[in-house]
Amino acid sequence: MLSRWPDSWHRRAHACRRLPTPYARGKDLFSGNPKLMSLFLITGGCGFIGSHLCAALVGRGDKVRVLDDLSTGSEANLVPGAELIVGDVGNPATVCAAMEGVDGCVHLAAIASVERGVRDWLGTHRVNLSGSIAVLDAARLRRVPVVYASSAAIYGDQVNLPIAESAPKRPLSAYGADKLGCEQHALVAGVVHGTPTLGLRFFNVFGPRQDPRSPYSGVISIFCDRFSQGGDVDIFGDGEQTRDFVFVSDVVAALLAGLKAASTEAPVLNVCTGRPISVRHLAETVAAVCGRSATIQYGSPRAGEIRHSLGDPHRSRAVLGLGEPRGLREGLEEVVAWLRAGRPGLRATGGSAQPIGA
Ligand SMILES: NC(=O)c1ccc[n+]([C@@H]2O[C@H](COP(=O)([O-])OP(=O)(O)OC[C@H]3O[C@@H](n4cnc5c(N)ncnc54)[C@H](O)[C@@H]3O)[C@@H](O)[C@H]2O)c1
Repeated sequence: MLSRWPDSWHRRAHACRRLPTPYARGKDLFSGNPKLMSLFLITGGCGFIGSHLCAALVGRGDKVRVLDDLSTGSEANLVPGAELIVGDVGNPATVCAAMEGVDGCVHLAAIASVERGVRDWLGTHRVNLSGSIAVLDAARLRRVPVVYASSAAIYGDQVNLPIAESAPKRPLSAYGADKLGCEQHALVAGVVHGTPTLGLRFFNVFGPRQDPRSPYSGVISIFCDRFSQGGDVDIFGDGEQTRDFVFVSDVVAALLAGLKAASTEAPVLNVCTGRPISVRHLAETVAAVCGRSATIQYGSPRAGEIRHSLGDPHRSRAVLGLGEPRGLREGLEEVVAWLRAGRPGLRATGGSAQPIGA
């Protein structure tokens, strides 16, 4: 079901009225008594992570409404049966109308590009922070709990690894600063307005339907492409830089569990594996999955690149009751299978984010 709202509709100043009973619609989410069927608003539901989340929600019998401007997401990713509102999360009237009648919201829409933030600081801020405030504002008016995507980018370059949630926050990009801003405004939503939230700081998520230009794990798609086509790969530096690669199904599990853990204390949790993977090991594993031996060229290191990023998963595992995360090789096998199937669902975008290490 697709609704494209005309501009005149937006101009009609859709009044966002406060619901009379606090959390009347969403109370089952807090009481722990599962409803037969809930309706969730997923912003960014046509994107990489959002499309996997929507599939999981629909798969367990819930209803899904997606708000997405299709800027990096694709309509081909829309899960069958979901309602799609093509609109901008930066438009408060659109967000407020999209929030109507939902039991919970997962806010994933963002311009997930550090490089875009350098080129268009204010434009990305409008989506990444103002858009998030629009979501929180509509949620408090509609009495809806919100789980939102934060990012490991809020930590910047840390000396002490693994990075626990309590580590100092030193974002090195406008993107990271805006994600930190989301966490601060979620706190305001809880303290001032009584709106339950939960922030999840994703590390490097990977899986099928990820854009190869993703700054997080696009390197995986690049390696898969090169090795599948019989080519070599280039790595900036010595290949010993490490990342915490978390498979998308583990992120979805955290988001689903998070819908029950949202609270007015605005908790924030890492979503990571706690396993450091070097870019060199990643290339070798991708090559093995593609049935090739790895031929790697090493270039000069890239200026400003973070050397190591590793999350501490203990707190989120305890709070959300998560199991062991998917192994790297197992996850890569799914990505390679998706690439070999012709990347179903991925739209070519004009993004130009630089992936790490390659
Ligand atoms: N992928 C990762 O490794 C990773 C890591 C940390 C945080 N995150 C965060 O997770 C979330 C999802 O990321 P993803 O990797 O799925 O990215 P993605 O680009 O695939 O998904 C983002 C979605 O938001 C939509 N969108 C962008 N601007 C919009 C706007 N103004 N209005 C409405 N929709 C808009 C896009 O069309 C897309 O469908 C983002 O908030 C991102 O910052 C991702």
